[in-house]
Amino acid sequence: NFPERVFSGIQPTGNLHLGNYLGAIVKFVALQETHECLFCVVDLHAITMPQAPDELRQAIRRIAAAYIASGIDPVRNIIFNQSQVSEHSELAWVFNCVARMGWLNRMTQFKDKAGKDRENVSIGLFAYPTLMAADILLYRATHVPVGEDQKQHVELTRDVAQKFNNDYSESIAARGHTAGFFPLPEPLIQGPAARVMSLRDGSKKMSKSDASEFSRLNLSDDADAINQKIRKAKTDPEPLPTELEGLKGRPEAENLIGIFSALSGVTPEKVLADFGGAQFSSFKQSLADLAIHKLGPIGAEMRRLEGDPGYIDQILRDGAVRARAIAQPIMNEVKDIVGL
Ligand code: ADP
Ligand code: NA
Repeated sequence: NFPERVFSGIQPTGNLHLGNYLGAIVKFVALQETHECLFCVVDLHAITMPQAPDELRQAIRRIAAAYIASGIDPVRNIIFNQSQVSEHSELAWVFNCVARMGWLNRMTQFKDKAGKDRENVSIGLFAYPTLMAADILLYRATHVPVGEDQKQHVELTRDVAQKFNNDYSESIAARGHTAGFFPLPEPLIQGPAARVMSLRDGSKKMSKSDASEFSRLNLSDDADAINQKIRKAKTDPEPLPTELEGLKGRPEAENLIGIFSALSGVTPEKVLADFGGAQFSSFKQSLADLAIHKLGPIGAEMRRLEGDPGYIDQILRDGAVRARAIAQPIMNEVKDIVGL
């Protein structure tokens, strides 16, 4: 009984890579056809780790440019920057008082990002998931398209929604909400690229923070860079198998097949039917051609848009006004429910 609404976000840190594109942005482009969507640049999440102010400002525009260049329509959808809608921070504080330490202690992303130096990371890095819960629930979003790595955070969002609904059930019911105040949002994680792996190491996800540039394809890469990175991608000495079974225990091969499948829209089975028995060298050439064909125009359009920061800033300002029109009444009601 909550109307369907989609929310997702990307951090303005580093270069956007193929994992962000296939795991998130491609799904956003599809969902705009069927759903009311908000696509956020989550800059408040970016400052949980140290960021240079001028680079952050540029990176915020770059994510907005990537959304638009990938085919997200800023008129039909709301594209905006998190820090321009202050209700995100306000609701995050309420959720910091709902979520339990034990829940956040179990978050694997925090453990990965904090590493061994836990005493010295920001409190914001620890509280990252409650801010993400606020991002989603501030719009009472019901569906959250994300990559596999964000599954645990969406589950935490559901726990926060549920606990808020329980803790304040009387106050919520007294205001006429019969099914709780917040929906329990569902993650949308599927397809062959829900988890794109590093091109250098099939056991690690492709990531903005990997030290090796050869580990990822960036949306901004030109044809030469794409060719080189795919040629150098780690593989094994066997030819490609003809069936999915044959990818077991071959994570690098499985990753490249998944990327080909996601970029071409052809099932992994069909990709193997076409390339099974071939050497990686010839498959890689086809994959590089495909990646250049798909990513090249997006990179070019991003560069064009980044050359017009006034246009991007206008879209973000408009988006913030439209986002706040949804967020403000919900935040006001949250305060009322809590007694603030
Ligand atoms: P990153 O993880 O690269 O720092 P974000 O945390 O901003 O980027 O994630 C933005 C979106 O991209 C999220 O939905 C996340 O799940 C998705 N994503 C990130 N890396 C990958 C990957 N390797 N494969 C699939 N999806 C990914
Ligand atoms: Na991530």
